[in-house]
Amino acid sequence: MMARVSQEIIERVRDASDILDVVSKYVDLKKRGQNYFGLCPFHNEKTPSFSVAPAKEIFHCFGCGTGGSTIDFIMEYEKIGFVEAVQRLGEQYGIEVQLTQAKGGKELFSNLYELHEMAMTLYHKNLFSEKGKSVLSYLSDRGLEKEILEQFKIGLAHETWNELLTLAKKKKMSNETLEKTGLFLNTEKGTFDRFRNRIMFPIFNTAGRVIAFGGRALDPEDPAKYLNSPETPLYRKRDIFYGLHSARQPIREHGYAIFVEGYMDFLQLFQAGIQNVIALSGTALTERHALQIRKFTHRVVLAYDGDSAGIDASVRAGYLLLRFGIEPGIVQIPDGMDPDDWVRKSGADELKEAVDKAVPVLSFHIQTKDAKSLPSVQRSEFIKDVVSQISGVSDGIIRDDLLKSLAQEMRVEESDLLKNMNSQKQRNLKEPIPASSRESNEIPLTSKVQKAQVILVKILAGEDLDARQTVREMIHLELFLEPVLKKLAKMIIPIYDEIDYPAIVGQFDSDAERKLVTNILMGGIDESNLTSLVQDCIRTLKAHPIKENIREIRIRIRELEEAGEDPTEAIIEVAKLQEELKSISI
Ligand code: CTP
Ligand code: MN
Repeated sequence: MMARVSQEIIERVRDASDILDVVSKYVDLKKRGQNYFGLCPFHNEKTPSFSVAPAKEIFHCFGCGTGGSTIDFIMEYEKIGFVEAVQRLGEQYGIEVQLTQAKGGKELFSNLYELHEMAMTLYHKNLFSEKGKSVLSYLSDRGLEKEILEQFKIGLAHETWNELLTLAKKKKMSNETLEKTGLFLNTEKGTFDRFRNRIMFPIFNTAGRVIAFGGRALDPEDPAKYLNSPETPLYRKRDIFYGLHSARQPIREHGYAIFVEGYMDFLQLFQAGIQNVIALSGTALTERHALQIRKFTHRVVLAYDGDSAGIDASVRAGYLLLRFGIEPGIVQIPDGMDPDDWVRKSGADELKEAVDKAVPVLSFHIQTKDAKSLPSVQRSEFIKDVVSQISGVSDGIIRDDLLKSLAQEMRVEESDLLKNMNSQKQRNLKEPIPASSRESNEIPLTSKVQKAQVILVKILAGEDLDARQTVREMIHLELFLEPVLKKLAKMIIPIYDEIDYPAIVGQFDSDAERKLVTNILMGGIDESNLTSLVQDCIRTLKAHPIKENIREIRIRIRELEEAGEDPTEAIIEVAKLQEELKSISI
């Protein structure tokens, strides 16, 4: 019987994967307008006619005509079948792709969906039962009507340890399945319901199925005001928005989305008729969120809480959205309120007006930091910081506009900003060792991997104690592969105050070593963009062994193919390593 993949999983894989992400691994793509172009991998060409439309999640070659979805691309490129392509993508995005025979036992995913469905029904029923009365009236005091509670299936988990568990056990599912739902806690004393004495917010995927819960404590003394489902095979936090399932049509109609922080904010706005709204549920906006929302709209209004944390978070989110070609506007909610409070106090119209008058991220940033009246040193720091944010924007037109506005608002010359941006970029590429030192008895450290080590050691050996501490916290000794640099790093990492430079130099015997070590100890790293420089170096070093590994396996694959043997295992290994490369964390 043919192996197949359930529709649910196919959809999950489609939802999770991003075509730009996938294709860029194989094709060098450049943005032109809304789309990306590159040399077609399916036919020979000298000018790019292969095109990817990220918003539409499809590709097409205007030369040879090949085209399709992400899954098609993988099938075509790897010359593999549909099921294998789904598996390949599933692997990349951490989705378990279980094969079913046409008939057979229940699969994990439908079990997980079923248990979530069951939990949602139970909790929802509880809220409208006799025991739920006080909670229902709490919610109605907070302005939420029955209709909205029905629509979003808001519920109540009682203060018992096993209400859900008892019900789940009747389904005769394996303990492993129960564990994978994230709805239960496994302790030495046994298995219990995770959510107790909480208002329950079901979290839906874009297909409208419940995949997780957020639970708000009823007891104000509870140390965790909100408790959320952990990551499960159904629930990947980094690309889920609360409410997107209901909001996506309104978002398309309005041409923009409003982001709020909390579940309560979402419900209050949605009820008030502002329905192009989604909630981040307390997580920071990620790149995957940006890619996800870009499928629906290119404009976002951030309406975060009106406290300093909310202001900072919206500035960060704003610049992130800009980098992805999404136009952000920011609404400042007044007086430490959140959108929920504000709508209840002043009505939805006031919020709507504020949304219409949302301020561009740059102006908002300048306003809230009062940047125009900063003393000159801080003012210059501020401008450099903003310039470095702007330099990350890939769309040249948007980037130019931003520089122009920054110049105007801060009353500086645009040409100076441009120069600063270019020199920031240059600095990141700057060669750490002067060319003059490349003499015959030098240890030549010219590869990217070697340069990265040199930069890190230079900072570690520098006079800036904060910078040294930053690097110290981010690295470990194994990153240094060059024996001399490793020896040097090992000596200086444990030093928390002033370094005795001559004593260090004295530890190196050969001429060649000493030249290198003194060169490094002389310093010479411009530290204005320190963190990103350090991150780049560490990324380079962490990626290096993985890349080497991939190179070796590639050679093995060729050998296997030449010998007429099956290279599948090795190919899978390469895919895994590539995934590892992608997920390097610093
Ligand atoms: N959140 C969370 N975990 C916490 C605190 C908050 O996941 N420990 C998330 C929740 O999704 C919450 C959002 O962050 O909705 C915003 O938090 P907060 O402003 O504290 O809560 P509100 O939504 O305003 O809830 P309420 O109005 O009931 O206090
Ligand atoms: Mn609130």
